[in-house]
Amino acid sequence: MATDSILTLAGVVAGYGKLTVLNGVDLRVAEGSITTMIGPNGAGKSTVLKTVFGLLRPTAGEIRFRGQAIAGLSQRALLSLGLAYVPQGRNLFPELTVRHNLELGGITLGDRKRLERRIDAVMGRFPRLLERADAQASTLSGGEQKMLEIGRALLLEPTLLLIDEPSIGLAPKLVGEVFAILRELRESGVTILMVEQNAKAALAVSDDALVLEQGCLAFAAPAAETLEDPKVHALFLGGGLEDGAGGNSAQAE
Ligand SMILES: Nc1ncnc2c1ncn2[C@@H]1O[C@H](COP(=O)(O)OP(=O)(O)OP(=O)(O)O)[C@@H](O)[C@H]1O
Ligand SMILES: [Mg+2]
Repeated sequence: MATDSILTLAGVVAGYGKLTVLNGVDLRVAEGSITTMIGPNGAGKSTVLKTVFGLLRPTAGEIRFRGQAIAGLSQRALLSLGLAYVPQGRNLFPELTVRHNLELGGITLGDRKRLERRIDAVMGRFPRLLERADAQASTLSGGEQKMLEIGRALLLEPTLLLIDEPSIGLAPKLVGEVFAILRELRESGVTILMVEQNAKAALAVSDDALVLEQGCLAFAAPAAETLEDPKVHALFLGGGLEDGAGGNSAQAE
């Protein structure tokens, strides 16, 4: 592919104390893409995102963002370079209002006027957050809460959004809404590296797919090809192919 990589990992080794989880991960994320990483539970998908975002320091290998080595940089430095991270699960202050959650998320902006402008921009993008600006975050629907987390990550105008399992715990309709937001972000020029269990729905909105197995990249291909790949299908997409070719899918369930 001719597209430039915004993020590359080469031989990245990382883990938790004595436990090595990433055993030399090589991957690239094309600028302007939605790239989705799938793989079994415990493969190290979340660990990849945490390592890119500086929550874990790799013990070997290189992480480059637009060609610049970023391993070991502080989160503040990574945020100012244009990375943002939305972790797995709920990450809001549930008892605070929507607006207050955004204000806290933009605290590193320092300048109050700039923060107000950015909050206005985020609420302009997500009118439902504007409607619910003074509501407690805990009263939002699951999809709206994820929208708020994404909005909060957008305050600093990132160019690379790392997002871990955005669809987890959401009703199917809300999953579609969250993925539609990610598509819109991509259209506006934000590159997205997403981890997802909901592989079929995620790959349908993605450009590229990565499969991580036991801390190593096992497969990388355009998302559309990955959806068709029989091995990936059998392992991660719930057995047989959609179009009725799934004669042996019964044994998987
Ligand atoms: N904070 C931690 N301390 C110690 N071990 C951890 C920690 N977080 C994760 N691990 C271990 O690292 C391995 C990889 O975890 P990781 O969360 O990256 O997997 P994953 O691919 O995201 O899985 P899932 O699909 O379940 O979210 C697992 O064996 C897990 O138990
Ligand atoms: Mg995970």
